[in-house]
Amino acid sequence: MRLWLYAPFTLLLAAFATKQVTGQCPSYTEYSKNPHGAPSEGPLGLPYMRPDITCRTFTSSAVENVIRELGGRIKDPDLARLFENTFPNTLGDTVKYFNKTENIAFIVTGDITAQWLRDTANQFAHYSSLLSKDADLAALVRAVINTESRYVSEYPYCGAFQPPPESGLDPTENVWARGVIVNPPVDNKTVFECKYEIDSLCGLLKLSRSYFQQTNDSSFMNENWHSAIKQIFRVIEEQSQASWDENFNFISYYNWTGTPGVSLSPLVNNDGNGEPKGYTGMVGTHHRPSDDLSAFAFLTPANAMLSVELEFLAEIVDAAGHGSLDITSSARTWSNRIKDALWNTTVENGIFAYETNGLGSKYFMDDANVPSLLSLPYLGFLGRSNPTYKKTREYLLSSRNPYYAEGSSFKGIGGPHARAWRPWPMSLVSSIFGSDDDAEILDTLYTIANNTAGLGLIHEGQYIHNSSDYTRPWFAWANSYFAEMILDLAARKPHLILKTNESYYV
Ligand SMILES: *[C@@H]1O[C@H](CO)[C@@H](O)[C@H](O)[C@H]1NC(C)=O
Ligand SMILES: *[C@@H]1O[C@H](CO)[C@@H](O)[C@H](O)[C@H]1NC(C)=O
Ligand SMILES: *[C@@H]1O[C@H](CO)[C@@H](O)[C@H](O)[C@H]1NC(C)=O
Ligand SMILES: *[C@@H]1O[C@H](CO)[C@@H](O)[C@H](O)[C@H]1NC(C)=O
Ligand SMILES: *[C@@H]1O[C@H](CO)[C@@H](O)[C@H](O)[C@H]1NC(C)=O
Ligand SMILES: *[C@@H]1O[C@H](CO)[C@@H](O)[C@H](O)[C@H]1NC(C)=O
Ligand SMILES: *[C@@H]1O[C@H](CO)[C@@H](O)[C@H](O)[C@H]1NC(C)=O
Ligand SMILES: *[C@@H]1O[C@H](CO)[C@@H](O)[C@H](O)[C@H]1NC(C)=O
Repeated sequence: MRLWLYAPFTLLLAAFATKQVTGQCPSYTEYSKNPHGAPSEGPLGLPYMRPDITCRTFTSSAVENVIRELGGRIKDPDLARLFENTFPNTLGDTVKYFNKTENIAFIVTGDITAQWLRDTANQFAHYSSLLSKDADLAALVRAVINTESRYVSEYPYCGAFQPPPESGLDPTENVWARGVIVNPPVDNKTVFECKYEIDSLCGLLKLSRSYFQQTNDSSFMNENWHSAIKQIFRVIEEQSQASWDENFNFISYYNWTGTPGVSLSPLVNNDGNGEPKGYTGMVGTHHRPSDDLSAFAFLTPANAMLSVELEFLAEIVDAAGHGSLDITSSARTWSNRIKDALWNTTVENGIFAYETNGLGSKYFMDDANVPSLLSLPYLGFLGRSNPTYKKTREYLLSSRNPYYAEGSSFKGIGGPHARAWRPWPMSLVSSIFGSDDDAEILDTLYTIANNTAGLGLIHEGQYIHNSSDYTRPWFAWANSYFAEMILDLAARKPHLILKTNESYYV
């Protein structure tokens, strides 16, 4: 089986090597806009979209083994091709710098040359079970944690960063952030974008704990990391407070505002503070995981993720014997406080609101990317059969959710970021993680597979009436998330996608 699959791969690579003799490596952003290689043998005929072997920024034999083993067991050749393209996508061209001795790495999000805390956590999530098998891959993740710890120690309110100085790579100008004013101010040689989103900090927590859970190696819990954790608690304290104090002084620890006509993002009302909020025990945020402005500060799914990750944080520092009492007790206190507040203040008629303001207002909707309400089981906040999740899910996947759309070629949940009429395939991946229903899973899976604009990669948003109309040719996280879902199905529902009923575990 292994050799049989190996042969076509080798031939394909040979073909590429010949083709590229003349030039150097193309930018993957350009590469990803056109189909390459021999099409897969299913009805979709999907292209082969991995960069030439000499152009890949990181190689992992453990990753190649999974592609060979699982690729050979997936029954539909089109799905196998999608897995082969998406699973290694992070390593193909996003690792722009890695020095093991320095313990520093720079990972771009795809078509934008910047490192997002949220995206990197997810760009490595599907490799977590390989970390105990591939020491170099583990070293890369450790370097990502260290680099991000350093960023967060200095700028805990920011979500996207420039290359570290060690890399010698030049910072790039964020043209969308021209005219943006942020307080506390940031240095644009380090920070790419300083929108405050609580789930960015959850990203670092998640990457840290999954690394520890897989390796038992606590060496990342160094000075940078401890300093980052301290800053995360500072943000939690500051952003959980009500906007008004008892004398109606307006409290602001952070504010962000654009300049009309100069920056892409809109002005944020109340001089960059957003809508006022009351105290609930949850932690407020300014922008959504899509980087769009929040309508209300308390984003339910981000608080769910924070509650989960703080509990894990307590567990890992205990297990590592780094049990600074401060970290474990603060983490457990906040985790429970957030969870109670979430259940107590965001549910109405058995349904979760997406955003609330702590003063009684609720916004019922869902946005496309993670953390979202649809992804609550994926985040580990509750089980698929939880009645509140089931009832919420039913309305999220219906036209009662203002950001659900269904057209002649595509359907799913979108958001203002790529527009309401362009749902994101990622919302469908979240839906599969939250479903136990075989027919629904297959329909959702093929809604994604049938709509890659013939490019065999997962895009950001796609127009519901024309799937050639999509945004972001190269969105590394979306590719990773899709591959992570295929791994989940291979273990949980092998009969749906594998040639035999035997589960595949990495
Ligand atoms: C990695 O960093 C070390 C320490 O700064 C340096 O000596 C070494 O040359 C670097 N290696 C590479 C490949 O850049
Ligand atoms: C940083 O800001 C300065 C001043 O606005 C600007 O001239 C420069 O181009 C910016 N650099 C980057 C990398 O964005
Ligand atoms: C903006 O935030 C800073 C703290 O970084 C604070 O000192 C200032 O008062 C805030 N301004 C407004 C208008 O909220
Ligand atoms: C990590 O430690 C736990 C508890 O000691 C053990 O059960 C597990 O096998 C270890 N995992 C690895 C990858 O070493
Ligand atoms: C919030 O929830 C917790 C646990 O679910 C409960 O003990 C507490 O009384 C609730 N608080 C309010 C104000 O409803
Ligand atoms: C996907 O496309 C195939 C044809 O290639 C079609 O048979 C199937 O119904 C489509 N599935 C979905 C969910 O769109
Ligand atoms: C579908 O979208 C593509 C890409 O934007 C465009 O070129 C094409 O004309 C559109 N097709 C229709 C029927 O509108
Ligand atoms: C595989 O599993 C499915 C669903 O669990 C079942 O219907 C089918 O009979 C199984 N096939 C074999 C060959 O065991």
